Amino acid sequence: MKLLVLLLLVGVANAMYYSNCELASTLQAAGMDGYNGVSLANWVCLAFSESSYNTQAIDYDSDGSTDYGIFQINDRWWCSNGVFPSYNGCGISCSELMTDNISADIACAKIIVDQQGISAWVGWQNNCEGQDVSQYIAGCSL
Ligand SMILES: *[C@@H]1O[C@H](CO)[C@@H](O)[C@H](O)[C@H]1NC(C)=O
Repeated sequence: MKLLVLLLLVGVANAMYYSNCELASTLQAAGMDGYNGVSLANWVCLAFSESSYNTQAIDYDSDGSTDYGIFQINDRWWCSNGVFPSYNGCGISCSELMTDNISADIACAKIIVDQQGISAWVGWQNNCEGQDVSQYIAGCSL
């Protein structure tokens, strides 16, 4: 029993990966369900496609730019890492997108979808657009 409790605590402390339902609840609480016409299931599908729900995902693009966090937000346009030339449309440091608290990621995603629509995310286009995405929130208590 003690071991089980310890394992659970360790699991929480290292929680870098959301489950689909945890992410759905967090996004819903942040007003993302239907934000700019994008359903909650589409947001969850987008996050799965882009990062597999990893809050600290980082990927390097062929143009030299980098994508950060659960929504894989790019440093050419939306955040600044202080080195790569950035338009910094969200007015944030990219490191804010690499924490387990995804409130900065959500705020920036809202700005992106306001300006460019959900198609700004290639992962969404490739894996969610025109698909039945209901499975991403199926069985979640929301
Ligand atoms: C996440 O960060 C935001 C903004 O800094 C803060 O308001 C909020 O309380 C944080 N949430 C948690 C669970 O720490």
